[in-house]
Amino acid sequence: MTATPAWPPSHGLRHFEDIDSTNDEARRLAAAGTQGPIWIIADRQTKGRGRRGREWHSLAGNLYATLLLSPASRTAQCVQLSFVAGLAAGDFVAHCAPEVDVRLKWPNDVLTGGRKIAGILLEASGTGSPDWLVVGFGINLVWYPNDAEFPATSLVAIGVRPPSPRDALTMLAAAWTQWYRLWETRGFAPIREAWLSRAAGLGELIRARLAEEEAGGVFEGIDETGALLLRESTGNLRTIAAGDVYF
Ligand code: BTN
Repeated sequence: MTATPAWPPSHGLRHFEDIDSTNDEARRLAAAGTQGPIWIIADRQTKGRGRRGREWHSLAGNLYATLLLSPASRTAQCVQLSFVAGLAAGDFVAHCAPEVDVRLKWPNDVLTGGRKIAGILLEASGTGSPDWLVVGFGINLVWYPNDAEFPATSLVAIGVRPPSPRDALTMLAAAWTQWYRLWETRGFAPIREAWLSRAAGLGELIRARLAEEEAGGVFEGIDETGALLLRESTGNLRTIAAGDVYF
């Protein structure tokens, strides 16, 4: 899918030069009764957060943006939006770097040349039908951390002239809207299919690092909840709801 730049994005927008975390700001807005959709973008974050409690280094130059949504869907379905987000971020990177193979790593990282160029942090209130959902995007436009657990890269490092964070958000927001509309109208099936067509390591031996252990096996796909399906050497098909994948 192609992105059509237009500023500001069709949703509401709040820009900060410095903030603790755009996800935290989105949560504060939701707590104060602000209804989404609204994008929050910051030039820098002092407490950028990644998945599983990791720090997300947030010096100026890269994209730090969060979409606050006030969803009507149940939490179980909202988890599917992490794949919508992965597709949108992947489209953004593919649009900037058309010559490069862009892959999606479960659950929602974007890779180029096997290195992570974007990460997504999805958070929702409560169970059942959440009052709010925040989808945070960190995209490495000009720099990347050297000390990340999974090797990282940036658009500049792969030889691409990056857009400004503001233009990057415009493109990302357009891509998000297209995939989100598809999800709203046709459900998870086409999202799952599109995601699998871009998945890194599908059909290959992978390792999944879970909270208490590491699991290994052949990556067979994702189920209708977005959980990872891993065929273990015993033949057992294991369903993994949360973890980190390594190759
Ligand atoms: C990950 O891969 O671990 C997810 C990284 C998500 C980082 C983004 S940057 C914008 C938003 N605000 C945060 O504090 N985190 C997300």
